Amino acid sequence: MSNELFDLTGKRALVTGGAQGLGRMIAEGLLRAGAIVAITSRKADICEAAAAEMSALGKCIALPADLTTPAAAVELVERYRAAVGGLDILVNNAGKTWGGDIDTFPDKAWPDVMAVNVQTPFTMVRELLPELTASGTADDPSRVINIGSVAGIKTERLHAYSYAASKAAIHMLSRDLAGDLAERNITVNAVIPGFFPTKMTAHFRDEEKVDPTLLAHIPLKRLGKAEDIAGVVVFLCSRGGSYVTGAQIPVDGGVVGCG
Ligand SMILES: NC(=O)c1ccc[n+]([C@@H]2O[C@H](COP(=O)([O-])OP(=O)(O)OC[C@H]3O[C@@H](n4cnc5c(N)ncnc54)[C@H](OP(=O)(O)O)[C@@H]3O)[C@@H](O)[C@H]2O)c1
Repeated sequence: MSNELFDLTGKRALVTGGAQGLGRMIAEGLLRAGAIVAITSRKADICEAAAAEMSALGKCIALPADLTTPAAAVELVERYRAAVGGLDILVNNAGKTWGGDIDTFPDKAWPDVMAVNVQTPFTMVRELLPELTASGTADDPSRVINIGSVAGIKTERLHAYSYAASKAAIHMLSRDLAGDLAERNITVNAVIPGFFPTKMTAHFRDEEKVDPTLLAHIPLKRLGKAEDIAGVVVFLCSRGGSYVTGAQIPVDGGVVGCG
């Protein structure tokens, strides 16, 4: 019963940035649950190597793409269509950050961060609406998951001004899309990670030793693990998650909820 509730056998998923970091944790979770998964990375060799490794878990397809422009997102969708066809699950995970002192924070830290973190996810949804609409039913909607950040909910003092603003924007965009797409049987949710050990948070670790100030800030006193993020995403994509839309779900050891 419980396996059936969270089973994704036969579902087709696209995870942007699925070759590395959180995207890879998510892609592996979806594969383990039975889905066919397409992943992107900017570098073709990294994308193909990751897809080859993950093929041990299920069918995994590499679609290299730099998602800094809407045109690139449109082109990725065309290649996805040719490679897979239909789509049940879209995970907009690819994300870009920029940290810098307020006095010198550069204007160039804005356009690409907003493009990758907000505009591209929107373009991906818009372009994939025919597939998402075709596969969603009232009992089993198709799913869009946008990866946000605690930095878009509370002031984390990360000096990542464009990043925090972009993540607040993707949280709101997720709710707006959820409202508009419910009648097409498409759910849209924002999953909001706290601190996971990826390249993006490498500055919080010294040779894998985590900054004790950071740990003190997390009520559950540890960083996130692959199963923490994969568990929530698999739930949202499964029959068990069919009735959840427009939600913002922190996966953060209590940083938002207990703050
Ligand atoms: N780690 C955390 O604690 C944390 C916390 C909150 C939110 N998040 C969010 O989680 C998501 C994944 O981040 P991460 O922690 O896994 O960091 P990461 O290891 O630096 O991964 C960033 C991902 O985004 C992709 N990406 C970056 N720029 C891109 C571009 N221009 N075009 C296409 N893909 C691009 C990267 O792909 P390639 O490098 O393979 O090209 C990579 O897969 C992001 O949305 C991030 O904001 C992470």
